[in-house]
Amino acid sequence: RRHKILVTRRVPQAAIEILKDSKSCDLDHWDSDDPIPRGELLNRVSGVDGLYCLLTEKIDAELLDAAGPQLKIVSTMSVGFDHVSLPEAAKRGIPVGHTPGVLTDATATLTVALLLATQRRLIEAAAEVKNGGWGTWKPLWMCGPTLMGSTVGIVGFGRIGVAVAQRLAPFGVARFLYADVEKKPENVEKMVTPKAEHVDMETLFKESDFVTAHTALTQETAGMFNKDAFSKMKNNAVFVNTSRGGVVNQDDLYEALKTGQIWGAGLDVTVPEPLPLDHPLLTLKNCVVLPHIGSAEESTREAMAVLAAKNLLAGLAGENLPAQAKL
Ligand code: GLV
Ligand code: GLV
Repeated sequence: RRHKILVTRRVPQAAIEILKDSKSCDLDHWDSDDPIPRGELLNRVSGVDGLYCLLTEKIDAELLDAAGPQLKIVSTMSVGFDHVSLPEAAKRGIPVGHTPGVLTDATATLTVALLLATQRRLIEAAAEVKNGGWGTWKPLWMCGPTLMGSTVGIVGFGRIGVAVAQRLAPFGVARFLYADVEKKPENVEKMVTPKAEHVDMETLFKESDFVTAHTALTQETAGMFNKDAFSKMKNNAVFVNTSRGGVVNQDDLYEALKTGQIWGAGLDVTVPEPLPLDHPLLTLKNCVVLPHIGSAEESTREAMAVLAAKNLLAGLAGENLPAQAKL
């Protein structure tokens, strides 16, 4: 029997070709740059064997029930899978595929770009050129905290966290601290020079000049960057988040930025996405907000799309997925 599959967005063509070439699939494609409305998704998912989705779709009990018992695989074109209920999928015996690894470099590079843009006030400074604010060369103007010789704290020392540290090391970072559920093996800590030091969260917050978040969004990490966390950070600390908006309490972040509790923040992820135009965070000069573009390099997006297609086909065939999501 041919498999029915639903692809919920316009994705790099290479992935569509793989699905079409497999010959065993009937493809229903929401071929638009805009998300499929929830009602439409609930309708069209009915009776499919494979679901190829994005992080904009909530894959919960309601959706899995709407799909029906024949559903064999959920494949998301993202490394994060907080939008997919793994317990609900597991209850129904449905594996979930995701796309780790292929976006590590792109996301780490964007993290460094965002950190530098925040620390050196690039967005604010470039705006001054256009709005007439560039009076003359001024010794005290547009200064930010110093990266050379600083301590960088990495929350979540996984693939992306390590790659961020490796990219920052050549700037002359003096210390890398990391917090994670467990201490990493020595060979992982030595993937960066100077060697990364495992510390508790409190020490990381207190001692870091730059704090960068690379943890998955889970029940444990939701809202972990809150008033208490920001109050422990240095007044000249820069906070960067390219993971998930949900790890930050945005009201607390706003207060911390507004009152000078911390120096600045660079966010590639927010709650909600997009952030409403009247959101308080957008009124702050010391907050740089990007529209969730961590993995937005052409070849990276293609590799993600292709890996998601391979996960989907493996799931339909009842084989092990190239990359299966696990909590
Ligand atoms: C992007 O945020 C992803 O999870 O791939
Ligand atoms: C800056 O342009 C300098 O010459 O110091």
